[in-house]
Amino acid sequence: MKIILIGFMGSGKTTVGRLLAKKLNLEAIEMDEMVLKMSDRRSVSEIFSLDGEKHFRDLETKIAKKISAIDNAVVSTGGGVVMRDKNMKLLKTGEIVFLKASFRTLEKRLIGDNSRPLFKNREKAKKLFNLRLKIYEKWADKVINTDKMTVNQVVTNILKNI
Ligand code: S3P
Repeated sequence: MKIILIGFMGSGKTTVGRLLAKKLNLEAIEMDEMVLKMSDRRSVSEIFSLDGEKHFRDLETKIAKKISAIDNAVVSTGGGVVMRDKNMKLLKTGEIVFLKASFRTLEKRLIGDNSRPLFKNREKAKKLFNLRLKIYEKWADKVINTDKMTVNQVVTNILKNI
């Protein structure tokens, strides 16, 4: 079984992914972490500022390729993975779950977090959010509205439906 979690920055993909993997006794894979390992940088922000977003996206596609060949894992993607159809075709080898949340919720969760280069400017982040919403929905096998849910509730919801 392979579950792919997609959604905007702050939607809980990493936290939910780790707990879900534990419950299902599967490996938890974090795409950002893999991208970072493949680079010679110390953070995602560093890759963006020193190598540029295109380089980050190319590494992300390489990781998506690796993941397409893996079975039995819960994969937490980076929020921008949906911007390349190619990535999503590779990730469609698993059950895609969209962790949906309103911009207001995401913003609250990410207050004071400086690790996300694309969330530094609120207006730009909002535009990106509006642009991506339909794309997340297009690829999702299942959509979960997480606004009023705890991490545990989201995990339980996914477990009930797989
Ligand atoms: C990005 C989301 C980040 C990370 C990078 C770009 C995006 O991952 O991949 O900063 O384009 O939305 P998270 O969704 O885990 O924050």
